Amino acid sequence: MNSRPRSIVVLTGAGISAESGIETFRAADGLWANHPVDDVATPEGFERNPQLVYQFYNQRRRQLLSQEMRPNPAHTALARFEHEFDGEFLLVTQNVDNLHERAGSDKLLHMHGELLKMRCLNSKLIFDINEDLDFDTHCRCCRSAGNLRPHVVWFGEMPLHMNQINNALESCDLFVAIGTSGNVYPASGFYQTAKIRRVHTVELNLEETGSSFDTHVYGPATETVPQFFDQILQPS
Ligand code: APR
Repeated sequence: MNSRPRSIVVLTGAGISAESGIETFRAADGLWANHPVDDVATPEGFERNPQLVYQFYNQRRRQLLSQEMRPNPAHTALARFEHEFDGEFLLVTQNVDNLHERAGSDKLLHMHGELLKMRCLNSKLIFDINEDLDFDTHCRCCRSAGNLRPHVVWFGEMPLHMNQINNALESCDLFVAIGTSGNVYPASGFYQTAKIRRVHTVELNLEETGSSFDTHVYGPATETVPQFFDQILQPS
């Protein structure tokens, strides 16, 4: 990358939260190895056995809210960069944890929803939740129980904020993907949208993902993210 970028889009995946202790999805011992996707991450699975889905997300929410859970240096470096960078910046995350917010990121979009939010099946209104969600959870809009689901995007559902994300991809001059295997569309297609516009694309990951980014930086996110973004802030 020769000149300093003026508009940056960053996409993060489960790999950026791995060193905080949150399991990724497709590692050998990852979430999908222990929980069939169809049962816990599809509308059909929720229809078939809502209790199983409530339990899956309650387990992950309890872990996220536990004392020892905190943002790691990769989250912190992104938040610091956002506030020091004088150009356009947008952080798009596929993650449903709140570690980017807790690290101080503001220009942040959760395209797959949020673990600490629930949604009314009737009104589609979204509410915060910091405890277990199940059939007995009272819905504040319906004033009854049994109408709530996790505000998380399941397979077969449309990701959130796509207009805003596509607008940012159409005007950025640097695209960086961090800790994502590039297995799930539309997020996995963002770098191609950038490449078509001859935007420089960079992938920060622990290992090869087989995607054709212009630049690959391998290593743990807690090392590669601070290094990469600090160097952009260096006077050119
Ligand atoms: N540092 C950097 N990268 C890492 C680290 C780390 N410490 N640990 C793991 N990774 C990388 C892995 O090499 C892998 O490429 O993070 C990626 C995690 O990939 P997945 O488990 O597939 O997670 P993700 O890409 O976020 O999945 C995307 O799929 O199941 C859906 O909705 C779910 O948002 C999720 C989406």
